[in-house]
Amino acid sequence: MEQRKKRVLGNWKMNLTSHEVRQLAEGMKEMPLADGVEVGVFPGFPYISMVKELLPQIRVGAQNFYPQENGAFTGEVSVLQIKDLGATMVLIGHSERRAIFNEDHLFLKKKVDASLNAGIKPVFCCGEPFEIRNTGGELSFVKQQLEDSLFHLSKPNLMKSVIAYEPVWAIGTGLTATTEQAEEMHRSIRGWISEKYDEETANGISILYGGSCNASNAKELFACPNVDGGLIGGASLKADTFQAIVNSF
Ligand code: PGA
Repeated sequence: MEQRKKRVLGNWKMNLTSHEVRQLAEGMKEMPLADGVEVGVFPGFPYISMVKELLPQIRVGAQNFYPQENGAFTGEVSVLQIKDLGATMVLIGHSERRAIFNEDHLFLKKKVDASLNAGIKPVFCCGEPFEIRNTGGELSFVKQQLEDSLFHLSKPNLMKSVIAYEPVWAIGTGLTATTEQAEEMHRSIRGWISEKYDEETANGISILYGGSCNASNAKELFACPNVDGGLIGGASLKADTFQAIVNSF
């Protein structure tokens, strides 16, 4: 069976202006890409095409879009517009979108469908907040997030998706999940996919870890059998640390 893809994706969030994007891209241009690892970044909307041009060897995605084809939605950006700029993937369900912008599971489901209809790969983020981890409810919480917004997909569409497990308490906090915590969740996610779909689907899908993943902890996290790489926030804003993470397999 074909080995599932290893990936390291950088989520630049609402950081960097054009000059800084150029500088970061310049640093990344020199970096030798690790064999067999797909590397990608999610810049802010205005810089998608610029990054695509500056870094043709990596994948470029968007952090968001609005799931309507077009029309009177002032200030929003459609999936066709991000595709037009060169994005080939999109983040959906990031905890910041869920918490700050109140994106609920039905809206996320719409976004998943709209991205796949447009041929854009959804990188679906899930993860429990601290209170849930604290009371031991993390597995059922994450399972519900997946059932609510992702597990309605057909097998071929699920196979086109990437899942990122990002415990909310680990995002931007410097608190990383232990390898045991990450592996338990990733193994469980694969188990649910196997139950709902089949083993081939479960084994084929990349499940990334995100949440204070950096150059010092990436190696041990990526060594977990069910962790296929990372979704990197803060540590993706520096070319050398991002490269060190890419080299951590
Ligand atoms: P972090 O963010 O690496 O800065 O914790 C990860 C993310 O939000 O995707």
